[in-house]
Amino acid sequence: MSEQDPIIQVQGISKRYPGGVMAVNDVTIDIGRGEFFALLGPSGCGKTTLLRMIAGFEIPTDGEILIDGQSMLGVQPNKRPINMVFQSYAVFPHMSVLDNVAYGLKMDGVAVGERNKRAEEALEMVKLGGYGKRLPNQLSGGQRQRVALARALVKRPKVLLLDEPLSALDAKLREAMQIELVRLQQQVGITFVIVTHDQSEALSMANRIAVMEKGVVRQVAPPAELYEFPNCRFVADFIGKMNLFEGQVVGVGGSDVVVDIKGIGRVDVPAIPGIEGEIGVAVRPEKLRLDRAQPAAGRISFQGKVSDVAYHGDSSWIFVQDDRGHSVMTAIQNEERSTAPKVAVGDLVWCSWSPGDTLLLRE
Ligand SMILES: Nc1ncnc2c1ncn2[C@@H]1O[C@H](COP(=O)(O)OP(=O)(O)OP(=O)(O)O)[C@@H](O)[C@H]1O
Ligand SMILES: [Mg+2]
Repeated sequence: MSEQDPIIQVQGISKRYPGGVMAVNDVTIDIGRGEFFALLGPSGCGKTTLLRMIAGFEIPTDGEILIDGQSMLGVQPNKRPINMVFQSYAVFPHMSVLDNVAYGLKMDGVAVGERNKRAEEALEMVKLGGYGKRLPNQLSGGQRQRVALARALVKRPKVLLLDEPLSALDAKLREAMQIELVRLQQQVGITFVIVTHDQSEALSMANRIAVMEKGVVRQVAPPAELYEFPNCRFVADFIGKMNLFEGQVVGVGGSDVVVDIKGIGRVDVPAIPGIEGEIGVAVRPEKLRLDRAQPAAGRISFQGKVSDVAYHGDSSWIFVQDDRGHSVMTAIQNEERSTAPKVAVGDLVWCSWSPGDTLLLRE
């Protein structure tokens, strides 16, 4: 399972829709056999368009897509070793669950005994064994979603493309289905490519993620690498929460650089290759610590006032501002059973972080 053994090779793919919208702009990615790969980005960034080109429902304006080493130029969707679960999936309301799942096999001319057997197997996979006789309106939303999945799995594709498969579900069910999907993918060993605009969904499910912005892929990496080492402001800001400062590189010494953080001063932080000039300086909220007393030298720090406290049950989000325009946030865990807030609006606090947790962002 790695991009060294790609099952999908997207090579310089672009899509310009009639009317001039450049929905996908020169995208190159390899997706490895057996990967759980996510396409992540804000609404309108081109995720569905890219998926539809892989499936063969849209013709690229430029570039080439290979599946299992074969060029897909001129290959019809139904001739590709791929199946797709659409953003707005539909099950046939008048057909039983079993017939819904077996429908694609029927269209392919598979005999009734064989197709019902395979449909039963697919229903077992999505934990709907024994539900075959029901009608779709006798199922919950999550169960209907699984019928759509079973219908895609029944044809035993090499690759399953899933466009926002969980977006219709409520938060609790969504989390449960996220775990189910990962389990299912591991069990069947099919390559999954999932589209989502929900970053926590992508982080928790995928083994690699491509982050898209305005038709362009900004970074492709495993979840922890995207989170801890984003390569630009867009990825840093889109994945998780981020505290951002303006800074300037004023000196380089070995593996460190000296950065002048606006309103905080000069600090030594670990360098990244080629970093220079005006940059973004960032630190994740959970790397930020709040103290009443000034932290020890060696930590990067500034003093501010608590401007907001947002209670979330297990944790509270604390927002701090100072009079030089800094505005940061961090979460504190409510590990003691108490209704008294630990920090209140107006409190004077020190915010600090370790130099090693500083992110330097070029653009
Ligand atoms: N058939 C079409 N004709 C013209 N423009 C289109 C067409 N389909 C999509 N677009 C445009 O292409 C861009 C990318 O659309 P796409 O559906 O790929 O985005 P997306 O990332 O899937 O968004 P969402 O998260 O909202 O589903 C958008 O600007 C959209 O308006
Ligand atoms: Mg879409």
